[in-house]
Amino acid sequence: MASRKLRVLMATAEMGPFAKVGGLGDVLGALPKALFDKGVDVRAIMPLYGFIDRRKFHIRRIAGLSEQAIIVGDHEFNVQYFRSNIPESKVQVFFVECDELFDRDGVYADPASGMTYGDTTTRFILFSKAVVDFLKMGVFTPEILHLHDNQASLIAAMLRGPNAEPELAKIKILLTIHNLEYQNQCDLGYVNEAGLDPSLTHPGGPLEFYGRLNFLKAGIVYADKLSTVSETYAAETLRGPDAGFGLEGVLQSRGADYRGIMNGADYAAWDPANDKWLVKTYSARNLAGKPANKKALLEKSRLPTDDLGQPVVGVISRLVYQKGIDLIVASLEEIFSRDVLLVVLGTGDPAYSGALREAEAKYPTRLAVHLEYNEELAHLIVAGSDALLIPSRFEPCGLNQLYGLRYGTIPVARRTGGLADTIQDYAPETDQGWGFLFDSFDTDGLVGALDEALAVYNDSERWKALMKRAMGLDFSWNVSAEKYKQLYLELVNG
Ligand code: ADP
Ligand code: GLC
Repeated sequence: MASRKLRVLMATAEMGPFAKVGGLGDVLGALPKALFDKGVDVRAIMPLYGFIDRRKFHIRRIAGLSEQAIIVGDHEFNVQYFRSNIPESKVQVFFVECDELFDRDGVYADPASGMTYGDTTTRFILFSKAVVDFLKMGVFTPEILHLHDNQASLIAAMLRGPNAEPELAKIKILLTIHNLEYQNQCDLGYVNEAGLDPSLTHPGGPLEFYGRLNFLKAGIVYADKLSTVSETYAAETLRGPDAGFGLEGVLQSRGADYRGIMNGADYAAWDPANDKWLVKTYSARNLAGKPANKKALLEKSRLPTDDLGQPVVGVISRLVYQKGIDLIVASLEEIFSRDVLLVVLGTGDPAYSGALREAEAKYPTRLAVHLEYNEELAHLIVAGSDALLIPSRFEPCGLNQLYGLRYGTIPVARRTGGLADTIQDYAPETDQGWGFLFDSFDTDGLVGALDEALAVYNDSERWKALMKRAMGLDFSWNVSAEKYKQLYLELVNG
């Protein structure tokens, strides 16, 4: 069995650089490339959203495949399949075109209003059915279908439930859960729209969750194996509802089929020595370029630039419950009683953006708030800040801390999920570690960790050594991609 190539198809709602909302897009843009380099024939399938630039990404219709009519409920949708590659790679990507549902400006929500699209359930039932149809067409016949998050989870029920196609039964299914909070719960009636057997919705049945249909639960029940994106988060989600969001019991029932595999960072996209969005590149050996980025960031943020020695703390985040934005806002008075500047970049819940805007008006010379999705600015914040603040309530993996470390921008973060697994808390006695962790989700916890960071920052030799230590760490995808490959082998070898 030595040189047999594993064939894997990933199904996802996000994939960088085509469509990214958060870390899921980062992972899908990088993990397939790392697996391909390990000899896995991995490809991916995703919706062809209207905002994706077909010309720039060379996205072409798949020759020889005719338009398909896919029925969801009593509505018939026209679907066509397209293909391209992840840029500068040999990884093929297939796209599901269905203009009625996907020709939009956003992935999940309208960027102008921030409102989630009202037909989310129909959109991802259609996507799931289109993936099943695509498998039947034989353009690519995977041994393993690797599903990501709730948007692709229903495919597992379609391939395994009583109405399943026998010829697809051989395909093994891995579901990777990037976030238990997002499950897509909807009216039970959608079971019929999805063409699934209504008898599966009896109380406690595979598709039923407190009287509703739950996409993620269906995936957890039907996938052959399950993973999530860090070991600590895997343990936390089994422990109770704080991280399991009601699905902890279903996860427990899967026993050893569920495990954590840490995400990696894509150093092709995130490398301070080679980053087109920086004002000046720099490296661990030559840090001289970093202050120019700090100055540019402060100018862009309309914050004072007269003292570049003043520590700058950055926040890059979806503005949602998970991320502890409310804790940042509640802690601002304490934070600004220290000598720091704070730059926040994010979009999301209007309650959090409103509170941040208000705070910005109150602290105009200390706080800058950028309420937008802006990749270039995200890179400048990672390069131009001294520290990144990540006070998450829970964090399946988190990628910003990995990017920060590579750029010598030290994470101040809550000890949870992947943050706990990737950040070694700094110990003053031994001068070891590469970040500052806190446990209790309150202002004392947050500013306690911030104070420890500032104490080291004020000792410039120690801080410099800390930056260099952080920049020398290796969180590339290599090790994690190998773990996925081993999991695939376990699946195909039974
Ligand atoms: P999550 O997936 O929960 O949002 P991660 O830390 O895994 O958290 O990944 C977030 C990704 O999204 C990072 O690449 C981060 O830089 C990016 N990101 C988040 N908000 C923004 C924004 N407003 N503009 C640009 N990039 C953003
Ligand atoms: C989710 C999680 C985040 C993780 C990302 C990629 O969005 O919130 O912690 O890094 O997925 O796996």
